[in-house]
Amino acid sequence: MEKFVICGGKPLCGTVSASGAKNAALPILAASILADGIVTLYNIPRLSDVFSMCDILISLGCDLTFSDGEIITVNTKGLKNSEVSYQLAGRLRGSFLIMGPLLAKTGYVSISMPGGCPIGARPIDLHLKGLSALGAEIENRRGSVVAKAKKLSGAKIYLDFPSVGATENIMSAAALAEGTTVIENAAVEPEIVDLANFLCAMGAKISGAGTDTVKIEGVSALSPVQYSVISDRIEAGTYLVAAAATGGDVTVKNILPDYVKPLTAKMTEMGISVEIGEGSIRVNHRKPYHSVDVKTLPFPGFPTDMQAQMTTLLSLSEGIGIITETIFENRFMHASELARMGANIKVTGRSAVVEGKKALTGAKVKATDLRAGAALVIAGLAARGDTEISDIYHIDRGYMDMADKLRQLGAEIYREEEH
Ligand code: UD1
Repeated sequence: MEKFVICGGKPLCGTVSASGAKNAALPILAASILADGIVTLYNIPRLSDVFSMCDILISLGCDLTFSDGEIITVNTKGLKNSEVSYQLAGRLRGSFLIMGPLLAKTGYVSISMPGGCPIGARPIDLHLKGLSALGAEIENRRGSVVAKAKKLSGAKIYLDFPSVGATENIMSAAALAEGTTVIENAAVEPEIVDLANFLCAMGAKISGAGTDTVKIEGVSALSPVQYSVISDRIEAGTYLVAAAATGGDVTVKNILPDYVKPLTAKMTEMGISVEIGEGSIRVNHRKPYHSVDVKTLPFPGFPTDMQAQMTTLLSLSEGIGIITETIFENRFMHASELARMGANIKVTGRSAVVEGKKALTGAKVKATDLRAGAALVIAGLAARGDTEISDIYHIDRGYMDMADKLRQLGAEIYREEEH
């Protein structure tokens, strides 16, 4: 087990590049099994969640190679197994994204219930509703979901909530179904569009991705391609918030500003100076900035994956801000850890009232989930004194080379063995 040790209080300055998006890489890696042959994927971040998905593909019989420059090739020729073990599925929530592609490709899938961040109940009913509408017979066998279908047929599917994962699973499965599928109230996140672009590059016929109605005309086979995944808007946003929290001057490059607009619009509203470039965003701000209210919503609303980092920023703002979390029911675990550093946050149900302070103080804290961990890193960078963050394996699931990137910006942050 490792921890981060941060000597805080230094403004971050310089340029940092966003890596490939975890939440695009996972569904795209999963969907690569739909093709026959060798799929080459670029801009795949080196993250433990990504390696867990690769382990799932290997366990199914695929042959993977890893090269410098974040390139992975997936050779699907040896695909023979359709069962994902408890040990592999339990490592990440995204493991479930293999279900739709595997069902479409082999007609059978057995997968243990997924793991992932403990931020809420995270049911999978919408995934199952969609796959069963496409003709799958689904049953629960001793903790595993087993789905079978001799053939999948296009259907009209209305999602009660625009679930990102359910939209991805259904889209991938429908790509090889017979006939036309229409997903209504689909998720519109940029990662959905990226998956659709990848599937279309392989020969799928998908229109409307990025709107709430996605139409998929099934085809009989998909061909291998070379494809580069989009950059990570949450990673980019995390560095922008860190820049503001430390009163620094940071340019994040390799990111489409439109992906980050729900965050940059809020930061601008707080009085923070944000400059939008072509493929880059710069935050150059000395304190103070004032509090705002934030409500998490599906894209293009404020992302739940930036809520914890925003809580840290509000803890350092002037005034009182209210954060309302509408996506996940248990996503304020960072509040009590931030309180150890002097933050004043009152959580009631799905809302947190954050009273800004002039400064936070370094302390020993624990990363309770991925984005909570990122929030603590930002707090540690901004705080007076030293901060130690334990359980950083959560952070490694979603931030490639975080300590290296922050050191490039002048931060004093190191990994150390925990004793
Ligand atoms: C994805 C992202 C995650 C992000 C989330 C919301 C990946 C790998 N993860 O997660 O980082 O925080 O989108 O932007 O892309 N729900 C149901 N039934 C279902 C599925 C979801 O009730 O079958 C609920 C969930 O409990 C949650 C809400 O819908 O309350 C949103 O979940 P969803 O959009 O599915 O998130 P994920 O795909 O799990």
